[in-house]
Amino acid sequence: MSQKLGWIGLGRMGEAMVTKLLKAGHNVHVWNRTASKAAHLAEYGAKIEAHKIDLASCDVVFTMVSTTDDLKEVLFGTGGLVTGSAKPQVVVDSSSISQEGSAEIRAQLEGMGIAYLCTPVSGNAKVAKAGKLLVVASGPKKLYEMVEPYLQAMSRKVMWVGEGELARIWKIAHNTMFGVVIQNLCEITVLAEKAGIPRHVFLESINDSVLGSMYTRYKTPMLSNLTFDQVTFTPQLLLKDMDLGMGAAKAYGVPMPAAAATRESVARMVGHGHDHIDFAVLLAETARDAGLELKSENVTISDGLT
Ligand SMILES: NC(=O)c1ccc[n+]([C@@H]2O[C@H](COP(=O)([O-])OP(=O)(O)OC[C@H]3O[C@@H](n4cnc5c(N)ncnc54)[C@H](OP(=O)(O)O)[C@@H]3O)[C@@H](O)[C@H]2O)c1
Repeated sequence: MSQKLGWIGLGRMGEAMVTKLLKAGHNVHVWNRTASKAAHLAEYGAKIEAHKIDLASCDVVFTMVSTTDDLKEVLFGTGGLVTGSAKPQVVVDSSSISQEGSAEIRAQLEGMGIAYLCTPVSGNAKVAKAGKLLVVASGPKKLYEMVEPYLQAMSRKVMWVGEGELARIWKIAHNTMFGVVIQNLCEITVLAEKAGIPRHVFLESINDSVLGSMYTRYKTPMLSNLTFDQVTFTPQLLLKDMDLGMGAAKAYGVPMPAAAATRESVARMVGHGHDHIDFAVLLAETARDAGLELKSENVTISDGLT
């Protein structure tokens, strides 16, 4: 547990996750492309590095970036983590990326003698801050056991689902459901409101029904009060994940009609802009299609996390 740790990627998720590691007392060196996002972590004991390659002397480096290409860039691109003579022993990646991209990355890293674990997560940054993330890992079991205490420090539960890239498929399946659930939640909420049930009343009833979940509960304040500017996850990231889902469906020969329809709806939302807004803006898109004018209900309602 006295290993020197590294962290690359201090976006919404990375910042929340590494803060948990730091608060648990770990020695973590951090780097982010936009350097200003790193500075405040010094107050929790993080060592801020100016270049990603400076993390190469760490034993274990965690990564949390956006896409497969971004992960390749931080590892193998110009000045990349593993492009110098010093190399970390282990790379642990939590980004939501494709199975094929992850396998390519594994082959390259393992070819250099660097072990690699996939550790995608369930939960947004608020869930991470509340210590309620689920981490699902795949890769060598012994490696998982070595890294598990670090994963536990940043989550509520950690699971190993098997070798290789299996955790990528888990995450792709998870986020396909994530998209389908928000699509349907928006549809039925607009239906209920157009028929006369106040939005927050309807959402509260769903949350307390057999269908309620941590997800429907934590989206409820935003859907009631239309606070889409409090971004947890963007429409673009959701489209990336729906496309990963459709790619996996094709690769494995699995018909996924609900996911396919949701993918098109998410693509239409992305086509309408919404670059720096939460994906829950899908509610506004659905209401517009239904000719329903939405207003903030301005209610205080629990997100189930705090
Ligand atoms: N938000 C969620 O609810 C959620 C939940 C689970 C999983 N995820 C997944 O977690 C990953 C991160 O999501 P997020 O919401 O934290 O995204 P985000 O806020 O947009 O952060 C992305 C991070 O990746 C860095 N990055 C992206 N491209 C890079 C590149 N080419 N080189 C170096 N750094 C790069 C960004 O650096 P800059 O700061 O310089 O832009 C930033 O630190 C994604 O794969 C997402 O699908 C998100």
